[in-house]
Amino acid sequence: MNKDFLWGAAMCASQAEGGYLEGGKGLTANDIFPALNEGRWEALYNVPESLQKKYNYYPSHQAIDFYHRYVEDIKLLAELGIKVFRTSINWARIFPNGDELEPNEEGLQFYEDVFNECGKYGITPVVTLNHFDTPLGLYKYGGWKNKKVITFFERYCETVFKRFKTQVKYWITFNEINMILGIPIVGGLIDPLKEENILEAKYQGAHNQLVASAIATKIGHEINPEFMVGSMIGAGKNYPYSPNPADVWAAYQADQEEYSLIDVQVKGKYSAYMRRYFEKNDIDILATEEEMALLKTYTADFLALSYYSTRLTAANNEDKEATGGNIADTLKNSYLEANDFGWQIDPLGFRITLNELYDRYEVPLFIVENGLAAMDVADENYFVEDDYRINYFAKHIQAMKEAMDDGVDIIGYATWGTIDIVSASSGIMSKRYGLVYVDLDDEGNGTRNRYKKKSFDWYKKVVTSNGEELM
Ligand code: BG6
Repeated sequence: MNKDFLWGAAMCASQAEGGYLEGGKGLTANDIFPALNEGRWEALYNVPESLQKKYNYYPSHQAIDFYHRYVEDIKLLAELGIKVFRTSINWARIFPNGDELEPNEEGLQFYEDVFNECGKYGITPVVTLNHFDTPLGLYKYGGWKNKKVITFFERYCETVFKRFKTQVKYWITFNEINMILGIPIVGGLIDPLKEENILEAKYQGAHNQLVASAIATKIGHEINPEFMVGSMIGAGKNYPYSPNPADVWAAYQADQEEYSLIDVQVKGKYSAYMRRYFEKNDIDILATEEEMALLKTYTADFLALSYYSTRLTAANNEDKEATGGNIADTLKNSYLEANDFGWQIDPLGFRITLNELYDRYEVPLFIVENGLAAMDVADENYFVEDDYRINYFAKHIQAMKEAMDDGVDIIGYATWGTIDIVSASSGIMSKRYGLVYVDLDDEGNGTRNRYKKKSFDWYKKVVTSNGEELM
């Protein structure tokens, strides 16, 4: 493997930081969602019945307290020998309500300190600008449906691009931009309970994010021509349920819709499929000529992706078993095993997905999320013997290497939730991805101390051998 390959670790502000009202931070959607409360999360996500208790606890308020522990955490991550640390800036730390004219200095200082700490170990930050944390103050505008939010986002981007001009090189505008289509409240602060035509509202919000992303790319390059400004997809190929052409067509359509926003970010225009889709579904998006020109000109420098599994799609879902998955549930694939949460495990699907994305877009790919969630059980010394996770990673990294041999250009690879964090979809702590165990339970009890799992030393070996030693 190329010696410049960027091995990394990944997490994000809203699931790790806590300090939800410290340093002048405003609220974001995540901060008002208690774990599994009011049936809201249950309705949106697939959480095992055993975990469907009602908690009156807001996990993001303290999360794993990265806000106060980042020095210790970055030191720990540096031990892995990683070159990049993917994290995010919480927009509401910089502009607490989203629409202020002046930024909050304390928020900027916090991230400056975090990035300086990374710098001490030669770790380059990869920074997501919006990872499920549009400030709640923008809800009154209708969230991302409203074009005013583009201007607020532009102000935020300009502020952080200028401040972190020399500390950050890789920027990702929106975490999994297709999330706004799956779960619009999380992806775009667009409330399905309030919108009369939710399909149109979602695509309008998505269009506005695409425009905002193009503007961010433009100003990012003006501020520092060395910046790499990328898009990001929650990836996973859609397999047809059977060779029946109706199922193959259904899977093709699901892929087209999954790729619809990335098509714009990378190719600079909506696909013919999507133009027809808008017409057929009476979706009338407000898109000016000026916006379309911006989209065409300021395309993404790279495509970041998360990968957890492939998806299975049929023309007719009746009598077919569903199972869990990222962004949305999927049909159960009898050829695949699944994790504790029903998310299916498909390393070959990773190779297929990487090949397909590269064929379609021909820009470098950056794997910024991959990992296995499990209900880890720690022993009396807080040690977790997570061979199942090692096995998952080994197979996925091997699949990635094969994709690279196939000719796919990949910049780097980061494990998700490298230190255990709060789960985004369920708000629980017991759904863990980390190589580092955090002593914290679903009700918020625990010291929040960190303990290396077995997979920590294993990944360190992978990183230091540049991917040679997988077993
Ligand atoms: C991705 C998100 O969708 O999936 C992460 O970018 C999230 O924020 C990850 O944590 C895994 O999902 P969950 O719900 O298991 O935390």
